[in-house]
Amino acid sequence: MICLGIEGTAHTFGIGIANSRGKVLANVAKVFVPLKGGIHPREAAQFHAANARAALNDALKTAKIRLKSIDLVAFSAGPGLGPCLRTAATAARALAAWLNVPIVGVNHCIAHIEIGRLTTGADDPVTLYVSGGNTQVIAFDAGRYRVFGETLDIPVGNCLDVFAREVGLSHPGGPNVERLASEGKHYISLPYVVKGMDLSFSGLTTEAVRRYRAGEDLHDLCYSLQETAFAALVEVTERAVAHTEKKEVMLTGGVAANSRLREMLKLMAEEHGAKFYVPPREYCQDCGPMIAWTGLLAYKHGIRQKLEETIVRQRWRTDEVDIPWRR
Ligand code: ATP
Ligand code: FE2
Repeated sequence: MICLGIEGTAHTFGIGIANSRGKVLANVAKVFVPLKGGIHPREAAQFHAANARAALNDALKTAKIRLKSIDLVAFSAGPGLGPCLRTAATAARALAAWLNVPIVGVNHCIAHIEIGRLTTGADDPVTLYVSGGNTQVIAFDAGRYRVFGETLDIPVGNCLDVFAREVGLSHPGGPNVERLASEGKHYISLPYVVKGMDLSFSGLTTEAVRRYRAGEDLHDLCYSLQETAFAALVEVTERAVAHTEKKEVMLTGGVAANSRLREMLKLMAEEHGAKFYVPPREYCQDCGPMIAWTGLLAYKHGIRQKLEETIVRQRWRTDEVDIPWRR
């Protein structure tokens, strides 16, 4: 069975093609880059609509298949930005109706975990999913993916991006902060916020910007921002590992590209006798194959949706989704 998956929750419009043996046949991504500032949902959605046709053609060409070989269409049904979700869903519905094949809506956060499991071989990890739009610690328990901890305000990638923007570094901020942090020498104390199992990064961002304006060295600040934010992420992940006694830790999302975060999490995993996994970079980012593969898992395990049931859900929570493929 061949599934075409459409990812369109935020910046990325992705088309992935995968088969039910877990082989990825195509991974095409068109990424919306705002001219300045943060993402404007309607502009991103217009970008997705304008690039959908080209992305589809590229994906079919890469996979060396014709449209009529597609047996199933999957799309990112949430969580995400309304206009982007609706654009991806409209494309998916049109395609499924035209081809007369089934359609399934997929949860974006769960798709990150499933493509991670597929591409790393991890079986049952505690997952730290960190990106510009999400920050969650997730693990499978009693039939569902449970959120053990998450940000109460902004995601950690957004913290890095906003800080970078305010101090004049280009977007995306994460890689630039990482580069400067490697030359930081002195730790500047910044607000470290863990509330129960949850996290908060907005006070940290504001304070780091304030310190920059007060004349602190930018290298030291980047270093300290990373150390503070990542220590909080590792603390919450560690508590989830201790609680669940799972023997695997996985890091995914755009911020998984960061070497320092990888190093800190790996160390923590080793202290708990757990294996540490990071999917290949193209599968840490938002991508079509994660939707295609999760769509295949859902469909093969009996999930069915009528066209009129394929609604999008901007705030679709990870723990609201039934996971029949892991029973
Ligand atoms: P999502 O829809 O999952 O929230 P997204 O739209 O934020 O995803 P991603 O590509 O998953 O897109 O993640 C982008 C984020 O990753 C940005 O915040 C960026 O700064 C961050 N990032 C990328 N590389 C690094 C790095 N080396 N260190 C830290 N952060 C990084
Ligand atoms: Fe994502």
